[in-house]
Amino acid sequence: MVALVQTVAYLGLEARGVEVQCQIAPGLPKFNVVGLPDKAVKESQERVHAALSAMGLSLPPKRITINLSPADLPKEGSHYDLPIALALLAAMGVTDAEQLHDFVAVGELALDGRIIASPGVLLAALHASGQDKGLICPAAQGSEARWASGIPILAAPNLISLLNHLKGTQQLPEPVPGVAEEPGFGPDLKQVKGQESAKRALEIAAAGGHNLLMIGPPGAGKSLLASCLPGILPRLTSAEALGIM
Ligand SMILES: Nc1ncnc2c1ncn2[C@@H]1O[C@H](COP(=O)(O)OP(=O)(O)O)[C@@H](O)[C@H]1O
Ligand SMILES: [Mg+2]
Repeated sequence: MVALVQTVAYLGLEARGVEVQCQIAPGLPKFNVVGLPDKAVKESQERVHAALSAMGLSLPPKRITINLSPADLPKEGSHYDLPIALALLAAMGVTDAEQLHDFVAVGELALDGRIIASPGVLLAALHASGQDKGLICPAAQGSEARWASGIPILAAPNLISLLNHLKGTQQLPEPVPGVAEEPGFGPDLKQVKGQESAKRALEIAAAGGHNLLMIGPPGAGKSLLASCLPGILPRLTSAEALGIM
C-alpha cells in the first residue's frame, strides 16, 4: 500500500504543493528517500527513525521508499520530517491514511519526537487554505498559521499528541492568532491648528480609501497633515496585512 501526505516546497515567497508517498514493500531492509531531496531532506530519515523509536515504534524490516512528488522539483529544508513520518506511520497502519488527506503537514522532528519550528509556516497555511485543506504544524507556530484563515489547524508539540488527536483520544488546543505589535502612528491630527477643510479632506480620504493631492506654499502644513494620516486610517484586516507583507 502507498500512503500519501501533502506538504509544500518553498520557492521564494511561494509554496508549491508536494506529495509525500511512502511504500513499504518486501525486500532487504532499506530506507530510501527519492525525488530530488537536498542534504537536509536526506537526513530526515535519521530524525524520523529516532522519533519513531522514541514512541516505542521500530521501522518494519522491509524496503521503505519515500518519494517526494513532483520528482523534478528540488526539495530543500527540514520541514519534510513531519510529512515523511506521517506517511510512514500511515503506511505502517499506525494512523489512518484517509484522515491525513485533509491536511497539509510541515514541521521538523527532534530525536525525541518533538515537532519543532521550521520557517515558512505562514506560506504553508496560505497554500493549505487555497486547497481547502487543514494544516498540521509545530505547536510553536500555531498562532502564526492561524493568521492565514479559518482553516483547521493541528498545532502539535510532539508526534504522540498528534497521533492521539487524530485517533480522538486527546484534543490539541486550538491555536489563537498572534497579537501584532502596535506600530507607531506619528503626530495626532488634533495637534494641527485650524485647517478644518484640510482635516476633513484627510478624514474622508482615510475613511473611503481615496487619493489625496495637497497643494500649498512651503510651511503650510502639508507634511504635517500627511504624517497624521496613518493614525486615522482604519486598522488592516489580517488578509490585508498579509497582502502588503
Ligand atoms: N496647522 C498647523 N498646526 C500646527 N503646526 C503647523 C500647522 N501648519 C504647519 N505647522 C508646522 O509648521 C512646520 C512646517 O510645516 P510642514 O508640514 O513641514 O509644511 P509643508 O510640508 O507644507 O512645507 C512644521 O513644524 C509643522 O508642524
Ligand atoms: Mg513638506
